[in-house]
Amino acid sequence: MTENPYKTIIHDNICIHYFEAVSSTMDIARNMSRSNCPNNTVIIATHQHSGRGRMQRQWQSDCGGLYMTWVVRPQLNAKYCFAYTFTAALAIVHTLDQLFNITAQVKWPNDVLINTQKIAGILTETQCENNQFSFLNIGIGINVNNQVKSDTLHAISVQDLVHTHVDLDSFIQPLCNNLSNHFRNIRVDHVLKSWKVHNCTLGKMVRIVLIDRIIDGCAVDINQEGALIIALGNGQLETVTYGDCIVPGFKISSHEQ
Ligand code: BTN
Repeated sequence: MTENPYKTIIHDNICIHYFEAVSSTMDIARNMSRSNCPNNTVIIATHQHSGRGRMQRQWQSDCGGLYMTWVVRPQLNAKYCFAYTFTAALAIVHTLDQLFNITAQVKWPNDVLINTQKIAGILTETQCENNQFSFLNIGIGINVNNQVKSDTLHAISVQDLVHTHVDLDSFIQPLCNNLSNHFRNIRVDHVLKSWKVHNCTLGKMVRIVLIDRIIDGCAVDINQEGALIIALGNGQLETVTYGDCIVPGFKISSHEQ
């Protein structure tokens, strides 16, 4: 199926392509990245047939949610990929506060929560050569007006919080401004500092679910490469770079299946 944007807006060096239904904005972004689309190319879809979440999960993508992939072509060493995903999460936190006075928090590695309920998730896809990015595609799914309550208590939407329909365009514009401003000025030390201010992971007992094992312990810090440091029951520290992080009270939302 050929998918074409129904609208393209270029503003402040950001090029936003709006699509109706797509398989996944990640697929469109990957094709565009491989065809050398510029930095700050953004794909937004009304809904996705095959939305993807982390750890091979599906991302339910009904109309009313925000489904976006942002293509960046960073000059940073590829080990700092995390700085972009953390930055995207912080830009979402900032936008929710700015527009709706909603206080959200970031959960390692890439979630945005309201208390224990997930309001947004981030998925990144990269292509690198010699530790340099060819592209870094940041997929952002935000529950805005889409129904999440009926299927789970572990997800929440902006509409649930403000008790009224939210105009998506009025949300997208400031979000894109914030993402663009945050991406333009990335400094890893600043990102880590800000992430620590807004996180709900550190200081908590967590369970890290890896493909082949489970790690239980206290999340004590985040290192310079965005990995979570866990203090185990025996006093040893373990560094975790990947996996699901479950904090008490928070379950993997069935919104992601
Ligand atoms: C997660 O929390 O597991 C990450 C969810 C990421 C969902 C977004 S929606 C836009 C983009 N397209 C996708 O298929 N996935 C990401």
